Amino acid sequence: MSKILVTGGTGYIGSHTVVELHNAGYTPVIVDNLSNSNIKILDQIEKIIGVKPEFHQFDLCDVAKTTAFIEANPDITGIIHFAASKAVGESVVDPLKYYHNNFFSLINLLNSYREKPINFVFSSSCTVYGEPDVLPVTESAPVKKSTSPYGNTKQIAEEILEETANAYGNYNIVALRYFNPVGAHETALIGELPNGVPQNLLPFITQTAIGKREKLTVFGSDYDTPDGSCIRDYIHVVDLAKAHVAAIKLLEKGNPNGKFDVFNIGTGNGYSVLEAIKAFEKASGKPLNYEFGPRREGDVIQVWGDVTKSTKELGWKAQLGIDEMMSSAWAWEQYINENPLPLD
Ligand code: NAD
Ligand code: WQD
Repeated sequence: MSKILVTGGTGYIGSHTVVELHNAGYTPVIVDNLSNSNIKILDQIEKIIGVKPEFHQFDLCDVAKTTAFIEANPDITGIIHFAASKAVGESVVDPLKYYHNNFFSLINLLNSYREKPINFVFSSSCTVYGEPDVLPVTESAPVKKSTSPYGNTKQIAEEILEETANAYGNYNIVALRYFNPVGAHETALIGELPNGVPQNLLPFITQTAIGKREKLTVFGSDYDTPDGSCIRDYIHVVDLAKAHVAAIKLLEKGNPNGKFDVFNIGTGNGYSVLEAIKAFEKASGKPLNYEFGPRREGDVIQVWGDVTKSTKELGWKAQLGIDEMMSSAWAWEQYINENPLPLD
């Protein structure tokens, strides 16, 4: 079975992708420095797939360790590179942490494959589009100057990858531009583990519903949208994980579009914050305590993806709807509340 390196594989999206790779007949190998995840996730994955995935703990910014690992694992045929720092707000306060971590890890990995062919899937983000001029946003929409160092790392990383793919010839690369990943595995054994006060909407909703937070603040109700709140393309994390398996398969087959390509990974549907709240209340059967507050600096008003290219050329389409997104997020919050992962 083809061995696929999953960097950041004990993280939110990585752990779900490890499960889907196994289900698709691949052998996932995780490298993670546990800077934003918990080693117990390996046990949780084992409960789902029946085997504990191979795991190596080190920092991908460490050149020697990264090079040694790649040399010791010549049977790795593909890489899915999730490992990065991803908190937008933190990146504004500590940009050098983000430029160091997100670029050094990427470049070290790429440099380890200068001679050998490698299939490489990169975690990008719809944040590269900024506030799109046209909706739904397609992959050919202009990349706009990011409003955060985090978003900048994704834009520049895509440029690094495109130039690398075109210059050397042995890298076959796709960048997946995720919209808003939410939800959790149907077993409620893995899900999003936000550190501290959640910045993202869904974990804040579920933590409010379970009583960890007093109330949710809706950031802005006076936007030029039907109900005044911002609109996003929420996508179930399991659908997102399956998109990575489809990307590996595309690269194994040979991408007719060339050595570097990008795909929107969303549902193609936009939901407002208020619609997301209502969907959660329906799925959980619990009224949510929320209030309206001021707009959040840097928020895009509305963005949702055109997923025609992903459907036609990646052979992937999201299957799970907003109800499953909300019910699975709620089930995970209840699980983690009753079974807190011990901090090592
Ligand atoms: P996450 O923080 O849960 O997972 C990232 C994992 O990478 C963590 O387990 C962390 O310990 C590990 N890591 C970070 N730096 C590392 C390093 N130098 N060496 C080894 N391991 C390292 O984040 P996530 O939500 O699963 O996101 C995964 C990827 O998807 C990230 O690249 C993120 O930027 C991107 N992304 C996430 C979202 C989202 O909303 N979650 C949206 C778009 C893109
Ligand atoms: C969604 C909507 C908020 C919290 C971010 C990053 C993006 C990607 C995904 C990494 C917005 C509103 C939120 C709250 C609220 N991450 N909201 N109250 O901002 O679309 O995207 O996460 O790659 O790069 O930018 O997601 O979940 O933070 O916000 O009203 O307490 O919910 O204003 O409209 P966002 P989000």
